[in-house]
Amino acid sequence: MNRITVVGAGNVGATCANVIAHKDLAREVVLVDIKEGVAEGKALDIWQTSSINNFNTRVTGVTNDYLRTKGSGVVVITSGIPRKPGMTRDDLIKTNAGIVKDVTEKVVKYSPEAIIIVVSNPLDVMTYAAYKAANKSANKIFGMAGILDTGRYRAFIAEALNVSPKDILSLSLGGHGNTMVPLPRYTSVNGIPITELLGKAEIDKIVERTRMGGGELVNLMGTSAWYAPGAAAAQMVEAIVDDQKRIFPCCAWLQGEYGLKDIYLGVPVKLGSGGIETIFELNLNDDENKLLQESAKEVKKVMKVLDDMKLF
Ligand code: NAI
Ligand code: 2OP
Repeated sequence: MNRITVVGAGNVGATCANVIAHKDLAREVVLVDIKEGVAEGKALDIWQTSSINNFNTRVTGVTNDYLRTKGSGVVVITSGIPRKPGMTRDDLIKTNAGIVKDVTEKVVKYSPEAIIIVVSNPLDVMTYAAYKAANKSANKIFGMAGILDTGRYRAFIAEALNVSPKDILSLSLGGHGNTMVPLPRYTSVNGIPITELLGKAEIDKIVERTRMGGGELVNLMGTSAWYAPGAAAAQMVEAIVDDQKRIFPCCAWLQGEYGLKDIYLGVPVKLGSGGIETIFELNLNDDENKLLQESAKEVKKVMKVLDDMKLF
C-alpha cells in the first residue's frame, strides 16, 4: 500500500503508527495532529528507529495538513480526549463527537476510497459519528475494540493456565464498555474448551476483569491504555492491507444481524482488502443473547445522546 494515515498523534495514534511501520505495511505512514509539532516530532522519532528495527516505511508527521494524507488506503482515527479516572467512555462524547466529525470529513475529502478504522471513544458511537460524516459504505468504516478486549481476556486466561497467549482463541461481542460480552463458550486453548480447563468461578472472574479492563488501566496510569489499543488497530490495518481474511471481533454496522438494526456493535467479521467482507452471526444461547441485547441497549442510549446533539 502506498499510504496509511493515523489521525491523532497521542498515545494510541503514535503507538499504532509505530507498529504499522515495524510491520512495513506501506511506503508511508502519515501521522496527523492539531498540536503544532507533536505529529512531526513523534513521526521523526519513529522514522529514526527504521535502521535499528529494520523497516522501510517512511513515517511523516503533519499539523492539520490533510493534503499530505491524500490517497491513503487506510485511515485510523484516534483523535480525541482519553478517559481520566472516574470517567466512563461515554463521558467523552461531547468533546469527541465534534472532533471525529471534523476529522472524518477532512479524511474523506482527500482519501475518498480509504477504509476507515475508528478508535476514539465512546467507540461504538464514535464509529457511528464517523459513518454519518463519511457517507460511505459501512463495510469500509468500522471500529476497533474487540481485538483489544479479547487481547485482555486472552492474556488473563493465559496467565491463569500458564500457557501461551498465542494459543488462546476467543470471541467477545457487544459494545466497548462494561456491558461487553466475552464468550467462554467460544473460547478455547487451541481447541480445548476453557470450560474443561477452568472452573466457572475462575472464568467468571476473568470475564469480569476483562469487562473492567480499560478502567483497571485508567486507575493505574491516570489515562487510558495505548500499547494494546495501538497494536490492535494495527492488526486490523494489516489484515486489510495484506487481504488476510482474518476473523476478528470488530465494531460493525448491523442491519438485522442478531436481531439488531441501525447500530454499530462488536461482532465477529472477516477482514480483508474490501474491509468488512462478512459479518458472522453466532448461534447464541439465551443467556448470551440477553447480555448482547442489554449491551446494545446501552449503546443505543449513547447513540441517542449523539443524535440529540444534532451534529448531522
Ligand atoms: P491522547 O490524548 O494521548 O491523544 C489524542 C490526540 O488527539 C492528541 O494528541 C490530540 O492533540 C489529538 N487531537 C485532538 N483533536 C484533534 C483533531 N481535531 N485533529 C487531530 N488530532 C486531534 O489520547 P489517547 O490515549 O491516544 O486516546 C485517543 C482516543 O482513543 C481516546 O478517545 C481514547 O478514549 C480512545 N481509546 C479507544 C480505545 C478502543 O479500544 N477503541 C482504547 C484506548 C483509547
Ligand atoms: C480501553 O479500553 C479506555 O477504551 C479504552 O483501554
